[in-house]
Parts: sequence; C-alpha cells; structure tokens
Amino acid sequence: MSVAPLQPLTLTIDVHLDAADLRAALARDVRSGLGAARKSLPPTWFYDEEGSKLFEEITRLPEYYPTRAERVLLERHASDVAALTRSDTLVELGAGACEKTRVLLDALADLGSLRRYVPFDVSADFLEEAATALGRQYEGLVVHAVIGDFHRHLGKIPGSGGRLIAFLGGTIGNLVPRQRRRFFSALRATMAPTDHLLLGADLVKDVGTILAAYDDSAGVTGRFNRNVLHVVNRELDADFVPDRFAHVVRWNPEQQWIEMRLRSELDQLVHVGALGLAVPFGRGEELLTEISAKFTPAGIRSELVRAGFVLDRQWGENAGDFLLTLAHPASRR
Ligand code: SAH
Ligand code: AVI
Repeated sequence: MSVAPLQPLTLTIDVHLDAADLRAALARDVRSGLGAARKSLPPTWFYDEEGSKLFEEITRLPEYYPTRAERVLLERHASDVAALTRSDTLVELGAGACEKTRVLLDALADLGSLRRYVPFDVSADFLEEAATALGRQYEGLVVHAVIGDFHRHLGKIPGSGGRLIAFLGGTIGNLVPRQRRRFFSALRATMAPTDHLLLGADLVKDVGTILAAYDDSAGVTGRFNRNVLHVVNRELDADFVPDRFAHVVRWNPEQQWIEMRLRSELDQLVHVGALGLAVPFGRGEELLTEISAKFTPAGIRSELVRAGFVLDRQWGENAGDFLLTLAHPASRR
C-alpha cells in the first residue's frame, strides 16, 4: 500500500449519535451540571466544528507540549507498535483531525498489514472532513468512520480481532477516575484476544510547564474554554455572554490534574430557553469545564492491569513528557 495524493475513496460512516441525540444529551448535562451546587459541564461539549478547530490551534501553540511530545514518541516507536501487533485495522478513539494517525498508518502500511482505518469521534462534521482527506491519501485503505460517544458506544466499534485501538492525545486524562475505570473495562470487554490498545497519556511534570500549556499567552485556550458557552447558546437557545466569564486554570495537587474553569465576572442570570431554566451565577462563581489528569507510568500500568489488560511495552517513561502504552487483553496468553 502506498501513500499518494487523491486516491479513490472507500468511506462508510456509522452514525450512533445524530444531531437530535446530541442535543438531548447536552440538555441532560446542562440541566444536571448547571443545576448543581458546584456547577460543571463535561468537556465533550467543547468540540463542535469551531471547538475542534480551536483544539487544532492549541496543538500548535508553543506552550502546549503534549501533541509534539506524543508525535515524537510515535515517530520513534510506530514501527515497533506495527511489528508487535501486525494489525490490519487501526481504530482511533477521539480521532479529531486524524493527524498523528498518519504515523501509525504509515508504519502498518510499510509492514503490509494495513487494510482499514476506523476513526471514532463525537464531532460529526469535523470527523467526516478529516476522514475523507485522510482516506484520499492511502491507496486501498477502507475508511469506516464512527460517530459516537466513547462513554456509550464502544460496543459499536466495527470488526473483531487484529485491531489496534489507539486512544491518543492524553484524552484519557479528561475522564475522572470513575469514568476511566468504566471506560477501560468496557473497552476490554469489547476486545478480542488479537486486539491491542495503544494509549497516549500525559505525565506528571513540573507544575509551571503544565499550567502554561493550559493558559497560553495568545489566549487560544481561553477561547476554546468559552466555546462551550457558544455551543449551549446555539443548541439550547441560551443567552450566555462568554466575555463575562474569565478563563481560569488551576493545578489540583491531590488529584494530580489540571482544572479548567469559567469564572463569572459579575452577578448574572443566564437563561437556557430550550429548557426553561434561569441559572444564577454569583460574582466569582466558577463553572468546571474540564479536568486533565497527569499520570505516572506505574499509575497507567495499574489502571490497565485492574481492567484486565497485560502490558506489552511502555515508551517515554524516561523522557518524562508523555507516555505511550501498548497492551492487550489478559486472557490471551
Ligand atoms: N486524538 C486527537 C484529538 C484529541 S481532542 C489528538 O490527539 O490530537 C479530543 C477528541 O475527542 C476530540 O476530537 C473530541 O471531539 C473527541 N471526544 C471528546 N469527547 C468524546 C466522547 N465522549 N466520545 C467520542 N469522542 C469524544
Ligand atoms: C483533548 N485533551 C487531551 C486536551 C487536554 O490537554 O486535556 C484538551 C485541552 N484542554 C485545554 N487544552 C487542551
């Protein structure tokens, strides 16, 4: 299989979340998250088309090290991953722009095993565009995109066996520990003995470096953070004025995670028309929009082992920036 421009496209898209499902799920999260004493919204709602573009911009910021660090590890070790797995299908959870994917696709293509790419994401328009562009570059590659929620639709990943399931970018850190446990067990339950998991996780490091990555000097992360308010305005007829909320980033040393928050600059009442809600925000009150947990190699190892995985390899533990872990289901050997 060779990489060449404008190949004929073989693209299938499975939709497990249409626009109405998404709006209903957002409505549930807004009702419970904004109705709570400590207000929060899940980070999944950042990623409409605009939010996905802002995230891409974040990945190019000088302060945001995780994407570059992970790319270096992938470039160094993709051929090892390909040789250890010999997978014919690359599944990518939370695929986004499908950017770093190319490094893995190239390695599997060089080995001659690659047949199919399965990008899986909640962000439909963005995924379709990215998957189409990528499919046109690989001769003979079957692209089977899945629009779904990785908290609910892991059982819908097509195929069984011979799959390399990549969960990259450190997105695992955006799940709280209970969600991570559920995610790893649910994923393990869907995996055949010959499937592998490749997990990218950001590592604990000096707090200044981490804080700068989430509070960049150009203010892109602030725009990304406030984008969730635009999403709620558009989808649920709300009247948030995003400029009345400040972008706040804090390191939580007990939990070893970054917290991204939006702090109300004044006393204000926000209406969510579609839900008939009036939500009061006091001056200084904060809305939690994301956690981004940082890990140790041993921590990742024990979470995976507890969920029924056996580790094949970890790469990057000495570099201290980022970690790639390759694992497979425990019952196999
Ligand atoms: N893997 C890419 C993108 C990371 S951004 C990279 O490493 O650069 C996180 C991605 O996860 C976004 O594309 C977002 O749309 C997707 N995502 C967030 N929550 C999701 C969920 N619950 N289910 C599926 N995809 C989700
Ligand atoms: C997608 N995820 C891993 C990013 C992170 O670093 O937690 C999202 C992000 N939030 C702010 N900047 C980037």
